[in-house]
Amino acid sequence: MCGIVGILGKEAVAPQIVDALKRLEYRGYDSAGVATLEKGVLQRRRAPGKLRALEDRLRQEPLSGRSGIGHTRWATHGGPSEVNAHPHATDRVAVVHNGIIENFKELKEELADHGVIFSSDTDTEVIVHLVTRELDAGKSPREAVPAVLARLRGAFALAFLFKGEEDLMIGARRGSPLAVGYGDGEMYLGSDAIALAPFTDRVSYLDDGDCVVLTRDGATVRDKDGSGAAVDRPVQKSLVTSALIDKGNYRHFMAKEIAEQPEVVGHTLAHHLDMGAGKARLPEGIDFKRLDRIAFSACGTAYYAGLVARYWFEKFARIPVDIDIASEFRYREPPLKDGGLAVLISQSGETADTLATLRHCRSQGMQIASVVNVPTSTIARESDAVLPTLAGPEIGVASTKAFTCQLATLATLAVAAGKARGVLSDDDEQKLVTSLIELPRLMAETIKLEPQIERLAKDFSRARDALYLGRGTSYPIAMEGALKLKEISYIHAEGYAAGELKHGPIALVDENVPVVVLAPYDNLFEKTVSNMQEVAARGGKVLLVTDAKGAKQAGGEFETLIVPDSYAFVTPMIYAIPMQLLAYHTAVFMGTDVDQPRNLAKSVTVE
Ligand code: M6R
Repeated sequence: MCGIVGILGKEAVAPQIVDALKRLEYRGYDSAGVATLEKGVLQRRRAPGKLRALEDRLRQEPLSGRSGIGHTRWATHGGPSEVNAHPHATDRVAVVHNGIIENFKELKEELADHGVIFSSDTDTEVIVHLVTRELDAGKSPREAVPAVLARLRGAFALAFLFKGEEDLMIGARRGSPLAVGYGDGEMYLGSDAIALAPFTDRVSYLDDGDCVVLTRDGATVRDKDGSGAAVDRPVQKSLVTSALIDKGNYRHFMAKEIAEQPEVVGHTLAHHLDMGAGKARLPEGIDFKRLDRIAFSACGTAYYAGLVARYWFEKFARIPVDIDIASEFRYREPPLKDGGLAVLISQSGETADTLATLRHCRSQGMQIASVVNVPTSTIARESDAVLPTLAGPEIGVASTKAFTCQLATLATLAVAAGKARGVLSDDDEQKLVTSLIELPRLMAETIKLEPQIERLAKDFSRARDALYLGRGTSYPIAMEGALKLKEISYIHAEGYAAGELKHGPIALVDENVPVVVLAPYDNLFEKTVSNMQEVAARGGKVLLVTDAKGAKQAGGEFETLIVPDSYAFVTPMIYAIPMQLLAYHTAVFMGTDVDQPRNLAKSVTVE
């Protein structure tokens, strides 16, 4: 989604702003812009497309101001054009905005009735005109912004710059994250700590409803949209360093992140397991014994992690799990139990639908646990118990290492729950923990299949449609494989429960539709083989992903990718890897933008 950077600096800030915006590219965007104060006058440079286009504009017409704001925009209201790009400005104020102003239509009509002429199709432009009206009425910037915030509905993070105010920047947050960076005689605003990483590691995070006034000497935060009391938002040491957000020797962030999985899954497991004792740690404050069900919710890949986890919780802890996509959860109006447990899963910890579900569950008296990768995120901060995934910053829009770390975390939680509920014995727990301890090694072995997968991907890149099939925990992994492929290669792909094939999707099968079948050699293997035969009988091209025993049973009849043998418990984390590599190499063959696929955003902060 959109990215915000603001700097009150000592030198010309435009190059630094563009540099910081580059670190936000991973969020997904389709236009960009910068505004600075040039001898007190607001000047803008904006361009549709990638940051290269904005850099060209700045080369032709440089900006030298020491105070500035910048933005990468992911289009919502109005297409990705120069006029719709942020900052939006009048001669008195410029603003950059993440999120959506829901009541912009009525505000626009009101402003138009007062003779305001709009130059863009955006919801954002109403904000600059409203602030300008307040300034024209004699209010100071510090008074004008809270007055306007009180009139806005929706979710937003905002940064304002004012004509003639070289030492002033105002930021506000409701729904979308905003961080304040503290430098030495310099101050920063950023939509996340990654943007601020090379400038400072001293960062504070605004809460919803906060409004911050920055000068080069520091920041004053007030709650209630800036009309409340001064509040303290503690300065923390950010753990996000520039080194962590570097591609290293890899061609794409996604390739690097796939390769990092054995290491980061190892870190995540080490956090949630007592490896010496062979036990899974139970998070403080969650009493699984008293629960009679759990509600899971998440979006996209994180939702598939939840789907896998449902199998584990129901099997090992004998606890029923309700799971729903976060954008549907609260509208379904499920009966929720006061004191029940809701588990939200999110890499970014900022996904608008997941956050709204969290707040809905909270309003119903539920206890909230979250599995998040960004410990300072809103979802983490609003949870009673946080189960961190230690994947490190994930920059590729297609989630890879965050997914396997989510699975690793949920696997440990399911074991801890099973033990706490008396379903698993000490011996059962020990066996499951042992299989988790072996997992990073098996994942590293699986990554070695990359050259073979790259060859298979060449054929894949010629397909227009693909099917992914699996049973049991391989079913959500099939859906995740299909999502990965469509996200970055734009090939249409669907994941199905293998048993569903003959209830509809088999109509799609012909010699041009590759069918990826995930089938570890387990009690469901024979049934899945029957489904493969059904595909083969119709001329379909099967790619079987299985282990050595499965390959032997299948008898060499199908194109086969053999992954390491493992306990059934940990197969989802292993089988996810060939799905990621297949999508990655297919996309590379097709020449798509792997790390920033079209139309997608990394952190989806609008509903
Ligand atoms: O940050 P979150 O985990 O909450 O994000 C959820 C989805 O937007 C995300 O998983 C999305 O589906 C990815 N692009 C998948 O690769």
